[in-house]
Amino acid sequence: MNILLRRWLLLCLVSLTLIYFLSSLSQLTLSRPPSRAPYNLDTDLPSDSPPPPKKHVNWSTYSPRNAPTSTIPLPRSTHAPSLPKIQARIFAETQEQGLERLERLQAVKDAFTHSWRGYTRHAWLHDELKPVTGEYRDVFGGWGATLVDSLDTLWIMGLEREFKVAVEAVAGIDFGTAGEDVLNVFETTIRYLGGLLAAYDLSGGRFPVLLEKAREVGGMLMGALDTPNHMPVTRWDWQLSAFSETEMEASNHAIASEVGSLTLEFTRLAQLTGEDRFYDAVQRITDEFERAQNGTRLPGLWPMMLNVRRLMFHTDNTFTLGGMSDSLYEYLPKQYLLLGGRVEQYQSMYTYALETAKKYLFFRPLHPENADILISGTTKMNGVGNPHLDPQGQHLTCFVAGMVALGAKAFEQPDDLAVAEKLMHGCIWAYDAMATGIMPELFRSAPCEDANNCTWSDERWYDGVNAFYKHQEGEKDASPAARARRLIELNKLPKGFTEITDGRYLLRPEAIESVWVMYRVTGDRKYQDVAWRMFTAISEATKTKFGHAGIQNVNDVGSGTIDVCESFWTAETLKYFYLVFADEGVVSLDEWVLNTEAHPFKRG
Ligand SMILES: *[C@@H]1O[C@H](CO)[C@@H](O)[C@H](O)[C@H]1NC(C)=O
Ligand SMILES: *[C@@H]1O[C@H](CO)[C@@H](O)[C@H](O)[C@H]1NC(C)=O
Ligand SMILES: *[C@@H]1O[C@H](CO)[C@@H](O)[C@H](O)[C@H]1NC(C)=O
Repeated sequence: MNILLRRWLLLCLVSLTLIYFLSSLSQLTLSRPPSRAPYNLDTDLPSDSPPPPKKHVNWSTYSPRNAPTSTIPLPRSTHAPSLPKIQARIFAETQEQGLERLERLQAVKDAFTHSWRGYTRHAWLHDELKPVTGEYRDVFGGWGATLVDSLDTLWIMGLEREFKVAVEAVAGIDFGTAGEDVLNVFETTIRYLGGLLAAYDLSGGRFPVLLEKAREVGGMLMGALDTPNHMPVTRWDWQLSAFSETEMEASNHAIASEVGSLTLEFTRLAQLTGEDRFYDAVQRITDEFERAQNGTRLPGLWPMMLNVRRLMFHTDNTFTLGGMSDSLYEYLPKQYLLLGGRVEQYQSMYTYALETAKKYLFFRPLHPENADILISGTTKMNGVGNPHLDPQGQHLTCFVAGMVALGAKAFEQPDDLAVAEKLMHGCIWAYDAMATGIMPELFRSAPCEDANNCTWSDERWYDGVNAFYKHQEGEKDASPAARARRLIELNKLPKGFTEITDGRYLLRPEAIESVWVMYRVTGDRKYQDVAWRMFTAISEATKTKFGHAGIQNVNDVGSGTIDVCESFWTAETLKYFYLVFADEGVVSLDEWVLNTEAHPFKRG
């Protein structure tokens, strides 16, 4: 190449770099990511080369492009209705039972401290510990998801010293930058915002930095709601909001629960800061859900996927209370309670949704002892509006029992308590039937079309089994019964189950969450025994050197671990196990509502 040309190119490159550098300086300040000091100096954290500087933004000085012209104020009226009691009146136990309960409580606390030690030594300030290898993962913005998510568990378990160390670390988190370019708005809300607010509430406001940080996170998340129709961008490129002029529109293919369950966290933030804008942001979303409720393809319920950019809620035909929908429903009665019953809308939306779910989602499965239980399945509407039930059970759906029990009390619908109990026993059955005593992630069973005609027979079970496998196993000559028996043996199907669709257990909390609510609502000690059975099964199957890990197959003892421990293990699963054995005054449901990540907020 000609030397002049080369010089000229070099000059261009240098000046372009300079222009780029100066222009970025004008709109942002470059800063280093938060220091990641290890908790213990004797750890063996990898010494990675210094990460490149990240863009930084002060969200409290962010001016929205689509500021609403009016603000819906937080309901504050002093003459709120007096709400019914949620918890049972009597929690009787003998002295012996009391001692046993305290032993169980200690065992749960030990499991927590084992996991917490692993996190602090090997993953401190990172999102998650990898419990098999002792490494770490950053998958929720990289702000220390497990740390923030577990603050309130530390407080509830009386680990005060650890709590203070954790709060100091939280004070150093920089929410002005992120370890990821695209943030999951829902996960950031329930884990970080929820975790901070609950820790602030539970510690009686003695650590103001927790509310400051919550306000920082809330201020940031408002950026994801800064769209022309004020609906959220659920997978949000935060730098696009902060530094570019590009107009951002709400998601056109959004998961229903990610849109519909931001209410509790933003409302509690509004209550604690007095800033109406946080309530306004989520009340607008609720109003759209209310408007759409009667116009979906299964009126009363909202489908799994939504187009919130065009506000179209009728394009998807899949309805479930399980994954991708779950907390949308869970938040309706809880938001009613958090607002002290001041907004009736949440009651009517819940009532209509539950009525529809009872008709189209809840089914009675064939059970070897003819137990009268319920499972919440998935229903698809076909082109001409006929429902088709997929008799699928999900671990995620086990929260429904607790939701229905809470709603039965809050809205004084005593008959619903029996429904809650049947749903609870559906999950307990799925735990008890498996070889490890733990429910799988996904399974199918044989639904009885008529709940009053559900007597066990092997033939009915075989029909159910063949229905799922008919295209797989080609023994044309075998009788249906012989074919079913072979499939049952091959797949080790427990009696009544027709498919174990996904045999993993991922340390999920939904079953113990409902067991805890059922216990507090009924005062029936049998739920403590159920909880203990679940706890011993889970702690045995999941314990590793560094903490607790998911497992590959709940129906195969020793099937192998999965090197993942999401923050909900210490934030939710172990918290609920602890609360089942704690005094009923600890996090009383008459004073607190828990968000979907088990973070208690003081009821307004
Ligand atoms: C952000 O800006 C506000 C208002 O100017 C200021 O009070 C606050 O200290 C700033 N926060 C950070 C983290 O720089
Ligand atoms: C939707 O339908 C339910 C049940 O039919 C009714 O109670 C409710 O008022 C309706 N809501 C709207 C917004 O039309
Ligand atoms: C009960 O259900 C079975 C299987 O679905 C059916 O064959 C039978 O006719 C039903 N019996 C009554 C009394 O409805």
